[in-house]
Amino acid sequence: MFIFKSQKEYALIDAGDGLKLERYGEYLIARPDPQALWPKGLLGLGDGNIWPNTDAIFAKAGNGGGSGRGGNNEGRSAGGNGGNATHRHLDDEEETGNWIKTRSIPDRWPVKFDMGDGLPSLNIYARLTPFKHTGIFPEQFTNWKWSMELIKKSMESTGEKGGAESDAKSGTKFTKENPPKILNLFGYSGAATVAALLAGAHVTHVDSSKGAVTWANENAELSGVLDKPVRWILEDAVSFIKKEIRRGNKYDGIILDPPAFGRGAKGEVWKIERDFLPFLELIFELLSDKALFLILNGYAAGYSSIAYSQNLQKLVGERGGEIEYGELCIEQSLSEFSKMAGGKDASDGAEKKSPIILPCGIVARWKSN
Ligand SMILES: C[S@@+](CC[C@H](N)C(=O)[O-])C[C@H]1O[C@@H](n2cnc3c(N)ncnc32)[C@H](O)[C@@H]1O
Repeated sequence: MFIFKSQKEYALIDAGDGLKLERYGEYLIARPDPQALWPKGLLGLGDGNIWPNTDAIFAKAGNGGGSGRGGNNEGRSAGGNGGNATHRHLDDEEETGNWIKTRSIPDRWPVKFDMGDGLPSLNIYARLTPFKHTGIFPEQFTNWKWSMELIKKSMESTGEKGGAESDAKSGTKFTKENPPKILNLFGYSGAATVAALLAGAHVTHVDSSKGAVTWANENAELSGVLDKPVRWILEDAVSFIKKEIRRGNKYDGIILDPPAFGRGAKGEVWKIERDFLPFLELIFELLSDKALFLILNGYAAGYSSIAYSQNLQKLVGERGGEIEYGELCIEQSLSEFSKMAGGKDASDGAEKKSPIILPCGIVARWKSN
């Protein structure tokens, strides 16, 4: 299990009854989460009613809060989706609806993630999209940090005579001038792209939605890395990697987060159960001889991280290295929970309670030795 703990600008405050309450910067957001399969009254606030002081609540279409799929075009554009229906990508594609706001919330606002250990911070814009998500998946923090550390380490001098420079000449090591090349497929709002750029990599970001690529661009700008070496590719992921193989291009790190269902920029259909395995075969062909890592992220179709990890065994067999896998989770902030409860729970010792752990997604990842 990879557990992300709340930070200054993001906190999971509570969850239960199929809902979760989070804080993004200064805004408290409540929205459905089918994984929150426990009663809110047990650990939550408000005995089953909606939490106090919530700034925006997502109301599913059909619950009186939304106008249905056909009525969401305006919201799609506002959510950065460019009117492209490919954002039917998370756990429940039918979950469209509207946000009921109790205070004015900007179209987008920045949320900063402190990466720790001397790594630069990641700054990402949150938005209230008509698909109930915010364009930020804090549970992926572990992937952002892991890739940043591997990229940075790959460019550090070995301390031996000649160091990284002589290794670079012999082609065995990366340097700032010759950084690892990272491919981020289905890159969406680009947090993983920004993380890799911050660590000094050269990044190719691929997504079929114009709105998503624009959002990722904005995030790169917000994090101060728009001037770093990055290629923004608006294309079907399958078509793009086939072309890259024909062109003989290779990558030193690949990150992919395939949806259950999606569409390429020209309407090509992506179905995970049909396309995942042949796609992965092509991905393996794109890995360079000195590749550092491969990250397979998932929210789609209820697959287990074990299922994803077995595919990576092939890499260990051929190249050595290590695989790790598990669920991506977020831990409740008990201090924010108790603050919201008006200190009530603090007096019974909120810290004595076990925080809720919300399962959010899965990952399997390989790194070379
Ligand atoms: C599951 S999300 C990725 C989330 C992202 N990795 C993140 O952490 O923010 C899926 C993304 O895949 C894109 N997409 C769907 N089908 C695609 C295709 N055939 N080719 C390229 N991108 C596609 C969607 O536009 C969407 O941005």
